Amino acid sequence: MSSIEVIGGEQLIGELKIQGSKNAALPVIAATILNKGISKLKNCPKICDVFHMIQILEELGCETSWEADTLIVNSSMAYITQVPEDAVRKMRSSILYLGAILGRFHEVTIAYPGGCSIGKRPINYHLDAIKKMNVSLEFLKQDESIIHCYTNRIIGNDIFLERPSVGATQNIILTAVLAEGVTRIYNAAREPEVIEVCDYLIEAGARIYGKGTAFLEIVGVESLHDVDFWLSSDRIVAGTYMAAIAATGGRAVFTKAPIKHLDSTIRILREVGCRIEVAEDRIKISNKQRPLPIQVLKTQPYPGFPTDMQSQLMSILCLADGESTIIEDIFESRYQNVDDLRKMGADITVEDDMMKAKIFGVSKLHGARVKAHDLRGGAALVIAGLAAEGLTIIDEADSIERGYEDICGDLSLLGARIRYCSEKVRELYCAQ
Ligand code: EPZ
Repeated sequence: MSSIEVIGGEQLIGELKIQGSKNAALPVIAATILNKGISKLKNCPKICDVFHMIQILEELGCETSWEADTLIVNSSMAYITQVPEDAVRKMRSSILYLGAILGRFHEVTIAYPGGCSIGKRPINYHLDAIKKMNVSLEFLKQDESIIHCYTNRIIGNDIFLERPSVGATQNIILTAVLAEGVTRIYNAAREPEVIEVCDYLIEAGARIYGKGTAFLEIVGVESLHDVDFWLSSDRIVAGTYMAAIAATGGRAVFTKAPIKHLDSTIRILREVGCRIEVAEDRIKISNKQRPLPIQVLKTQPYPGFPTDMQSQLMSILCLADGESTIIEDIFESRYQNVDDLRKMGADITVEDDMMKAKIFGVSKLHGARVKAHDLRGGAALVIAGLAAEGLTIIDEADSIERGYEDICGDLSLLGARIRYCSEKVRELYCAQ
């Protein structure tokens, strides 16, 4: 397990290019199964989750290769319809192979993805939807941990989603593009990463209408064709680095930034006192003062404030000049950072069954040994470490590499004193 060490107190200053989007790449990589041919995915991030999805593609019989940051997939030879069990257990997003493999082969066997530290994360919406599209399901193990879905014809239908689930919307689209007839999704997710899957499939010849709205219509087509596709930059990585500027009082320019996907994040960072200018794909951000508190912030589906930015914002608000309240309304256990931030001197109370956090701003944080409980929580502890006095060690930093190509390298470019931690430093720290 790797650790990251941060020596805080530096103002971050400089320019940085934002990487390709994890949450756009993962569903599009799954979708490459459907065109039975070549997909060239440009601006594809080199992160653990992407490598994981590629490994599954190869186990399904696909050929993959890289040309710089372009991932090339040839799915013409794919023939396996069973996703390796351990693959799904390791990474939830492999569940997106359910719709892609089913859509192409009318059959798929896949493990029920376990929850993760941020919540139970059931897939009932995914399964209920495909059942409405003439697909039969059976559980292959006593504990219902392996799902076998099969049909001789996928037939489009009207699907009403109880909540605008990103994953369920994507899996329904993947199941529907080669189906017979029309599939309509009501209360669909509107996230940019859903639009991205639609754009990729439309460029491959799919007929999808209403992308970015709560009502999607997919008219099934016979087949799809080869496609070159440019993946968007990562709005959460951009938001994370902007939050680092807000917390450390620096100034920076972020290039290749997905401006149009960052409305709510920019709005909130302006509220905490940042000065933000945007032009084309460049964001100029600075913060010359102690962060201002936020009365109440609730995480919401897009275009609301993203739950994937909640932990990073909490790190900023720990240093705000006053009291703030965050309501986490998407995942039931996404306050794993609270105890670690308290170790750094933060003053936070959590109420209402882990839904509401009250943050009483303190004038300074101090370094400590903390642990990354999940991807975004880990990145948020890096931000807290950058703003704190002294040395912070973040253990189990592997979870951060799942979504950030090189968080240490990137932040060092902005003058941060940060690096992956050697065993020696870890021992030294323990000895203290
Ligand atoms: C996607 O997860 C993202 N992951 C998550 O980002 C993100 O936090 C989430 O959307 C919300 O924006 C990827 O894109 C790979 P959901 P997903 O289905 O699709 C409940 C990160 O850090 N639900 O929209 O799994 C669910 O439990 C990750 O990059 C059901 O109850 O999220 C949750 O409470 C973390 N039944 C809510 O809906 C279902 O069948 C939203 O989940 C499906 C979902």
